[in-house]
Amino acid sequence: MKYHIVTYGCQMNVHESEKIAGLLREAGYEGEAPIEQADIVVFNTCCIRENAENHAFGNIGALKKLKRQRKGMIIAVGGCMAQEEGKAALLIKKFPFIDIIFGTHNVAELPLLIDRKKREKKVVSLLDDRSETEDGAQPFRTSYPNAWVNITYGCNNFCTYCIVPYVRGREKSRKAERILDELRALVEAGYKEITLLGQNVNSYRDGETDFPALLDRVASIDGKFRVRFMTSHPKDFSAELVAVMKKHEKICNLLHLPAQSGSSRILSLMNRRYTREEYLEKAALFKREIPGAELTTDLIVGFPTETEEEFEETLSLVEEADFSSAFTFIYSPRTGTKAAEMEGQIPEEVSKARIARLIEQVNENTRRKSEGYVGKTIEVLCEDFDEKKGLYLGREPLGRMGYFASEKNCVGEFVRMKVMRANGVSLYGKLIEENS
Ligand code: 5AD
Ligand code: SF4
Repeated sequence: MKYHIVTYGCQMNVHESEKIAGLLREAGYEGEAPIEQADIVVFNTCCIRENAENHAFGNIGALKKLKRQRKGMIIAVGGCMAQEEGKAALLIKKFPFIDIIFGTHNVAELPLLIDRKKREKKVVSLLDDRSETEDGAQPFRTSYPNAWVNITYGCNNFCTYCIVPYVRGREKSRKAERILDELRALVEAGYKEITLLGQNVNSYRDGETDFPALLDRVASIDGKFRVRFMTSHPKDFSAELVAVMKKHEKICNLLHLPAQSGSSRILSLMNRRYTREEYLEKAALFKREIPGAELTTDLIVGFPTETEEEFEETLSLVEEADFSSAFTFIYSPRTGTKAAEMEGQIPEEVSKARIARLIEQVNENTRRKSEGYVGKTIEVLCEDFDEKKGLYLGREPLGRMGYFASEKNCVGEFVRMKVMRANGVSLYGKLIEENS
């Protein structure tokens, strides 16, 4: 019995798919297989923007023929889109061959649902919120030497464009001790880079332990490893956190701090609860306190009523905040959110023209910053071998991907690389022997 998991969306989902894999293995599935040979296909979906949904719809629809040929194959659809109001019914109507639908709050129930499917024609199980903070699923990790660990689930922020609070529920923080136990075990097992995950890690709170305190404890675990975290919300990003980042070498000096817009009026309409000036102040504090630190961000263009001038404020923010890279998105109305009901939706052509200009600006910044690496020596955590390029690859602390040739397999090792050439966020170089 083999499984195949198709994952859409963010890192949170990628990690959740590791948990789904772990649950399937516990339930007796032996390993992964190509989709045509799998006994169960699980779609772990995303609904953050319309194109994420269209993608999933397309790929689920494409299974109709295969399912006709292989009647015993189970098709399960879970994740954010399955959890979205009214979507389960729509999915079943569009794709009557789906066997199981499960939501974001009951992933751990999947083996049970598979069992129920033996007796029932179709199984749909969605919960309104998660009852337990611990999900009880042991992830089957395939990303060595990197490991992702949830610290919070859900979100309370209700940014007006965002569907996440509706499909992921209210924010819940895992117990610090549970997180630390999991991390100690990962470091013990040889993982070298830990990324703490939450929709808004900065609002983590378990009794007395807030996020800076948790991070301090995480980075105090013995061993050689790196710590990253995402995502940070600018409104909760604090001087205490900067102090902890400064204190520990293990914590990478790269901060993903989504700005979303450079216009204070748009930020207010987005319910982000900071202004352009406040954002820039926090960015400046971070860079002042930690020399050489870098900032990345998320930016949305075409939010309802965004004027040309306000868009240009986002363009100028890229320069002013000096982002080393950015994810850029065209605003996508999501049913049920406040922004979807707002007057002044922006025509697609306008948004497309804006995002093209924004991408150009971001790429220009990325290029300039990458050029600055040439001639420098960086520490790379080797994570894979690129067959096509014939080179090993891995990230440096500030998030750039380094490529290099090596005689021996160095996956999972920290190596030093001299950068010879830069291309976008990729750096090409040669290994430096530790004792040369
Ligand atoms: N339209 C476009 N982008 C969105 N994001 C969230 N919701 C939407 C939406 N409705 C973006 C934000 C967020 C990132 C994960 O996705 O920039 O930070
Ligand atoms: Fe969505 Fe805002 Fe929560 Fe991020 S902080 S998940 S953008 S509601």
